[in-house]
Amino acid sequence: MSFVFSKENLERIEALKSRYPSPKALLLPCLWMAQYQEGYISLDAIEVIGEVIDMPPMELYRVATFYTMFNLEPVGKYHIQLCKTLSCALRGKAQILAQLSNRLGIKPGESSQDGKYTLSQVECLGSCGTAPVMQINDRYYENLTPEKIDTILESLEEES
Ligand code: FES
Repeated sequence: MSFVFSKENLERIEALKSRYPSPKALLLPCLWMAQYQEGYISLDAIEVIGEVIDMPPMELYRVATFYTMFNLEPVGKYHIQLCKTLSCALRGKAQILAQLSNRLGIKPGESSQDGKYTLSQVECLGSCGTAPVMQINDRYYENLTPEKIDTILESLEEES
């Protein structure tokens, strides 16, 4: 197995064990730690987590595939997740998607060739009142317009 939890994450897992009734309750925190550490959750990571919390890897895999916030494939440095649900759809999601696709040269489900961007469409991000909404890594961008997309992408380019 090529996945190994970092020393810091192993310490966090040990500390969390005392707060939960059974090691299996650490399932979601462990999946998050693996994703933050590697950028995605590999099958190797699922095997390792299974050993750490004493859970069959297949059960872990079922949970990891149920939640769309877990990436089971590598993603770009900036993972753009655009909401495709009703409020966002009614408030211009299609134009936002077109702007993102045109600017980045990728379609939903694809990553840019330089590995910088991955574009995904996701279900409701829970911010319907500020639709259309997208999430890039851990940050929300709300009340989007095609012009705002240009500004956001330019600021990401300056950042990197
Ligand atoms: S419908 Fe897009 S955030 Fe809820």
